[in-house]
Amino acid sequence: MTSRITGTGSCLPAEIITNDDLAQVVDTSDEWISTRTGIRSRRIVKGESGASMAAEAARRALENAGVSAGEIQLIIVATCTGDLQFPGTACVVQKEIQADGAVAFDLGAACSGFLFALNTAHAYIQTGVYQKALVIGTEVLSKLVDWKDRSTCVLFGDGAGAAVVEASEEGLQGFVQYSDGKKGEVLSCISRPVENLIHRKEEGTDYRTPVSDYLTMNGQEVFRFAVKKVPECIHQLLDQTRTRADQVDWYILHQANSRIIQSVAKRMGVDEARFPMNMDRYGNTSAASIPILLDELNREGKLARGQQIVLAGFGAGLTWGAAKLTW
Ligand code: ACO
Repeated sequence: MTSRITGTGSCLPAEIITNDDLAQVVDTSDEWISTRTGIRSRRIVKGESGASMAAEAARRALENAGVSAGEIQLIIVATCTGDLQFPGTACVVQKEIQADGAVAFDLGAACSGFLFALNTAHAYIQTGVYQKALVIGTEVLSKLVDWKDRSTCVLFGDGAGAAVVEASEEGLQGFVQYSDGKKGEVLSCISRPVENLIHRKEEGTDYRTPVSDYLTMNGQEVFRFAVKKVPECIHQLLDQTRTRADQVDWYILHQANSRIIQSVAKRMGVDEARFPMNMDRYGNTSAASIPILLDELNREGKLARGQQIVLAGFGAGLTWGAAKLTW
């Protein structure tokens, strides 16, 4: 027994911010952003929230799978930008979609979040604990970026994507996942610092108490990490599942940056056409990027039953990994 994705859905905020719009507020240009990242526009929330987008993406995924909310036993929401400290976004989604029979919790693994959540749901399903799950990635990165910092604000966007995952004879064949906490400072964002009766925060002592309240990133380190670790772990996964790189129909990677994806394709010796991208329209939506792209491909009719798909995520932690599945 394994787990299979039987339906997908996504939800993007209505508001579109182009590179030219950003050039009005920071010293940048469409040419700089698009040549270095492949990003041309992104969506950012106005009235939407992480939970409202997640719930809408979930409803669309349920409809696509032909599964009712009442049948769902497990909801995992991958997010690093929850609306509330608690309850978790997954519990808010459970209420919104009326999945009263489900257990619901959040999982935080930044841009690897959807992949790690999918693997977690798979482990529950494979061991017979649950049969039907909802796995969601939702992010409102626009509240974590400093809109005065041109080196980060141009990269990110908001959105949500969801997948219904069910017990099946074929589907997910294997996965690999990694973390390297020693490299945490490469990409980090402070939570509310400890300031209580007996302790005040000391600003700037290390990356857990940075001077900035916003997301901070060493872009070149992230780039080097991604172009090395992503092909490495995909190769390992292909060995594990006895698959040649050219037997995979689609490589669906976290949509951080087109240059990272082009470099991975080149290092793997695989035609770039098998690495679909949509960051030109949505920017980097962290845990939401893989399920949003999966849903686009699904709705465009590009995913055929039996096709071989590799998903790969990478991000803060550092965390990274890949999963191989039959569609
Ligand atoms: N517009 C214009 N100029 C800019 C901008 C901007 N938006 N941002 C930075 N610059 C300037 C810098 O100030 C610098 O100027 P200087 O030479 O006068 O000091 C110059 O451009 C070069 O800056 P670098 O940081 O060296 O630029 P680089 O070529 O490395 O590109 C980038 C930056 C695009 C972030 C690159 O490092 C990258 O792609 N890194 C990967 C990071 C990534 O994708 N992060 C996503 C989040 S992490 C994740 O999802 C896994």
